[in-house]
Amino acid sequence: MSQAHFQDPDAVAAYERGPRLFIPGYDASHDMASVLLMETMSADGHVLVVGAGGGIEMAKFAEVGPGWRFTGVDPAPLMLDMARQRLAAMGADQRITLIEGYASDAPDGPFDAATCFLVLHFVPDDGSKLSTLREIHRRLKSGAPFVLIDGCMDREGPDFAAALARYSAFGRFKGAPEDMIAYASSMVATSLNTVSAEREVALLTEAGFTFVEPFYRGLWVQGWLARA
Ligand SMILES: C[S@@+](CC[C@H](N)C(=O)[O-])C[C@H]1O[C@@H](n2cnc3c(N)ncnc32)[C@H](O)[C@@H]1O
Repeated sequence: MSQAHFQDPDAVAAYERGPRLFIPGYDASHDMASVLLMETMSADGHVLVVGAGGGIEMAKFAEVGPGWRFTGVDPAPLMLDMARQRLAAMGADQRITLIEGYASDAPDGPFDAATCFLVLHFVPDDGSKLSTLREIHRRLKSGAPFVLIDGCMDREGPDFAAALARYSAFGRFKGAPEDMIAYASSMVATSLNTVSAEREVALLTEAGFTFVEPFYRGLWVQGWLARA
């Protein structure tokens, strides 16, 4: 899905469904991330959520940490509206600040933790991925956890076609309609800026993160815990 996808009201309304059809272990990845955050977060800790649109991971964290506070940034107003409504419905709206924009638009913090789920694969690897990671790093307390989940496919590599075929096969296995599979697959093929897992780790390291460790993989989607 491209950035424009998240400006389309129908696509945004359907967002709830998409990740669970195409991201193996989507909810489990949020459970794992919650456990990782719980390792170091204080009862009233403050999390920076980059690409907070939809609010699905923020809602999970708000449930897990009933005193945790959140600052979410996302460039798509409709996705932010969805996040706002979701958090309000669970009575957590007093604990969130939502900002239309990018990591660079977030307050300086420093934050106790940060997350960035299913966002970086939209960002070109022309210095923009690195600067996004650097903007997150500089807003974190020293040693604070950063949880990254991102789609990883080396678009130039020999396995790209096979990874794309598996992406469609998983959606089909989960019951996604064929028109949705065709749309989603063509978006992944043409509009995403995925890189290999090795490149993601190199970017994390270059941005200043240390102790980078993998914690999750659902076919093409992978997750790392790193420290600022
Ligand atoms: C696939 S959704 C993921 C939403 C949520 N993090 C989740 O995992 O369900 C991608 C979100 O990233 C946002 N986004 C795209 N580019 C971004 C960027 N450079 N910085 C922050 N958010 C971005 C989109 O507007 C969209 O809301």
